[in-house]
Amino acid sequence: MYASSEKNPTNTTSGGRSQLIDNHGRIITYLRLAITDRCNLRCSYCMPEQGVETVSHSETLSYEELERLVRLFLELGIEKIRITGGEPFVRRGCMDFLERLKHELGVEQLVVTTNGVETARYLKRLKDLPISGINLSLDTLDRKRFETITRRDRLSAVLKTLHGALELGIRIKVNSVVSEETSDSEILQLGKLAHDNRLSMRFIEKMPFSGEKEEGPRIDYGLSQRLAKLFPGLEQRQTENGSTAREFLVPGFRGSLGIIEGSSRKFCSTCNRVRITPQGILKVCLYDNGVLNLKELLRQGISDQDLLNNIRGCLNKRFADGHQTESANGRAEQPSMASIGG
Ligand code: GTP
Ligand code: 5AD
Ligand code: SF4
Repeated sequence: MYASSEKNPTNTTSGGRSQLIDNHGRIITYLRLAITDRCNLRCSYCMPEQGVETVSHSETLSYEELERLVRLFLELGIEKIRITGGEPFVRRGCMDFLERLKHELGVEQLVVTTNGVETARYLKRLKDLPISGINLSLDTLDRKRFETITRRDRLSAVLKTLHGALELGIRIKVNSVVSEETSDSEILQLGKLAHDNRLSMRFIEKMPFSGEKEEGPRIDYGLSQRLAKLFPGLEQRQTENGSTAREFLVPGFRGSLGIIEGSSRKFCSTCNRVRITPQGILKVCLYDNGVLNLKELLRQGISDQDLLNNIRGCLNKRFADGHQTESANGRAEQPSMASIGG
C-alpha cells in the first residue's frame, strides 16, 4: 500500500523504553483514538445533513480491544493519547474508559476533543482524572450561526461546558473551523474569549472531509494575515514540537490565539502522531486511506509481538507529508472527519 523511502529503523530503545520512529526520523509519541463515528451535531464541513453511514457496534472496536491497543502503543513509546470521535461522549461508557486509561493503564497525557454538547456533566470527573486538556469545538458565539453550521440549536450547552471547564481550571483549547462564511466580527468575538480567559483560541483551515462527494475549490485562507489585521500587536510564540498550531500572543490577552494550517499541511515535517479509526484502521497520516486493519488482526487472535511488528512495519513506509500521501493514495470520495477522528 505504501512506497516511500526507507531511511531509518522504526524501533529503537532509549533508556529501556521503546521508541517508534518513522522512516523520516520522526518520533511517534501521540495516538489519536476515535472511539465512535456517531455525533450529536451535524457540522456541514464534517458530515452531510443526514449524518454519515455509521459503523455497527460489532464493527466498532470494543473497549477491551481499545485497551489492548493502548497497552501496546504505550510499549511503543506513546506518551499522549487523544480520545476523539465523532463525539466521544455519545458512546456509552466513555467516561469509565477514560478513567481506566488513566488509572489502570497509566496514560501520561490523556486529552479529549469534544463538541461540548453533553460534556458539562462529566467535567468534575475529568478534572479528577486529571485530564491534561480538553479541545472544544466551537465555531461561533452567535446562536443562529451555530445552528446553521451544526444544524442543531445547542450553543448554550457548549457554552456551559466551556465556562464550567474554565471554572474548574481545566486546560482548554477552543477549535474554530474557519469557512468562507466566517466573518471578521465572528473571529473578533471568538478572539475575545482569549482576551478574557486563559485559554487557547485556535482558528482552523477547513479541510475537505465533509463526507460529501463534491467539495468546493481549495481556498487560500491567509489566516495569519487575517489575524494580524484583526488583532494588532499579534506576535508568534514558540510552540511545542509536533504541534498542529502556530500560536500567537496579543498584548493584553490572558490567553493565546492560534492557527491550524491543516489544509496547507505546514506541520508535516514534525508530525508525531498516528490515529486509529472507530473501525480499528490504523492511519499514519490524516490523508491516507488506512495502512493496517488492526481490528481484523485482533479478532484473528494475533499475538502482541506480531501486532507490534506489524505496527512498526507501517511506520517504516510513511510518506514525508500529507500532500505526498494524498497524491499516492488518491481519494475517490471525501471521507467524513467523524469517521477518522480529526
Ligand atoms: P493538540 O494535541 O492540542 O495540539 O490538538 P490537535 O490539533 O492535535 O487536535 P484537535 O483534535 O484539537 O484537532 C484540531 C485540528 O487539527 C482539526 O481540524 C484536526 O483535523 C487537525 N489535525 C489534527 N491532526 C492533524 C494532522 O495530523 N494533519 C492535519 N492536516 N490536520 C490535523
Ligand atoms: N476541516 C477542519 N477541521 C475539521 N474538524 C471537523 N471537520 C473538519 C474539517 N473539514 C475539526 C472539528 C474538531 C476537530 C477534531 O476537527 O472542529 O474540533
Ligand atoms: Fe460532530 Fe465534530 Fe463532526 Fe461537528 S465536527 S459533526 S461536532 S464530529
